[in-house]
Amino acid sequence: MTEYSALLVTGGAGFIGSNFIRMALAEKPGLKIVNLDELTYAGNLENLSGCESNPSYVFVKGSICDKDLVLATIRKYNIDGIINFAAESHVDRSISGPEIFVETNVMGTLKLLQCAKECGVKRFLQVSTDEVYGSLGKEGLFTESTTIKPNSPYSASKASADHMVHAFHHTYGMDTVITRCSNNYGPYQFPEKMLPLCINNALNGKTIPVYGDGMQIRDWLYVYDHCTAIMEVFVNGKSGDVYNIGGCNEKTNLELVRTVLRIVGRDESLISFVKDRPGHDRRYAIDASKLMSSSSWKPSVTFEEGIEKTIKWYVDNRAWLDAVCSGSYRAYYEKMYSRR
Ligand code: NAD
Ligand code: DAU
Repeated sequence: MTEYSALLVTGGAGFIGSNFIRMALAEKPGLKIVNLDELTYAGNLENLSGCESNPSYVFVKGSICDKDLVLATIRKYNIDGIINFAAESHVDRSISGPEIFVETNVMGTLKLLQCAKECGVKRFLQVSTDEVYGSLGKEGLFTESTTIKPNSPYSASKASADHMVHAFHHTYGMDTVITRCSNNYGPYQFPEKMLPLCINNALNGKTIPVYGDGMQIRDWLYVYDHCTAIMEVFVNGKSGDVYNIGGCNEKTNLELVRTVLRIVGRDESLISFVKDRPGHDRRYAIDASKLMSSSSWKPSVTFEEGIEKTIKWYVDNRAWLDAVCSGSYRAYYEKMYSRR
């Protein structure tokens, strides 16, 4: 990378952020990565084990809502680019407690933008989601010009943040880009999300809660491919633009669960249909042709390879899984699923 010397990566101790940092340290030697993470329940420094000894990597514990800390960090490390992963990211939690989603995802993004503007940071990339588009019927794909129509408190907060990023570009001339990706899967995902929850329960012979009829559709992308797409957009994306990212891997939730059960060697008696998520979006599917036609990026991992790799990772990293499933996760699981 020639243009940027030091990146502020927020939320780098979470699932996608930690995969991004590992990818960037391996593939962009010489680029300094400063990871600002508040270490909420979803942040885990174990996700970055081995990175601490890399001289290009620095960890700063703190919140994107803390402007003094963000300004001091940008100045101390001569940050010239920001990639904002930090967020409350789980739809179910946003349904039971939306306030923190507005605080982190909306106010946090606003504060980061203000700091970036004040310090003259060259480029700001907002990691957004396909959920801002709402839900699809049986046909069609989300394109970058699909109307924003978020349905959950989570997606409404992410959509608000996207609007704020756009406003900073339009009003103040800031160099911003937004990425909107479909569902990610891979190593280090916290097992509140469907896929790692399903793998964990299958490995432990526990039932797998499937919401409603299990025929909802998600479009799955291996996390490494999301990370390389973000880097591509950060380096070469057009200022002010939005880029969809996806893998063309539409699966119903039931198909996903059955695939995991087959690979883990469990039978389908573990499937348990439970009460649906309120306001549950039926189908997401991404058209990523804008990014694919304007760059050489394309997904490198097929769904079949990715799911095998992912399950193997959780099997090989039972200690990581057991650690994140102890403590507050147990209380969360009990609250979410015991009377569902
Ligand atoms: P995650 O929940 O695994 O990680 C979020 C990280 O943000 C954690 O490390 C947490 O400690 C940190 N964080 C939370 N509040 C913070 C604050 N105030 N200041 C600093 N750090 C804070 O989330 P993820 O799945 O890795 O998602 C990362 C980003 O990608 C999010 O913005 C999410 O909306 C977006 N996204 C996720 C997916 C997906 O499938 N997981 C798909 C598309 C987009
Ligand atoms: O589309 C991108 C989004 O994907 C990201 O923006 C979000 O941060 C990320 O969490 C994810 O949102 P989803 O709601 O699609 O992911 P989740 O893993 O929570 O659920 C996937 C599907 O599985 C969804 O249709 C709900 C269903 N589900 C989920 C859980 C946790 C179940 O059937 N049972 C469950 O226990």
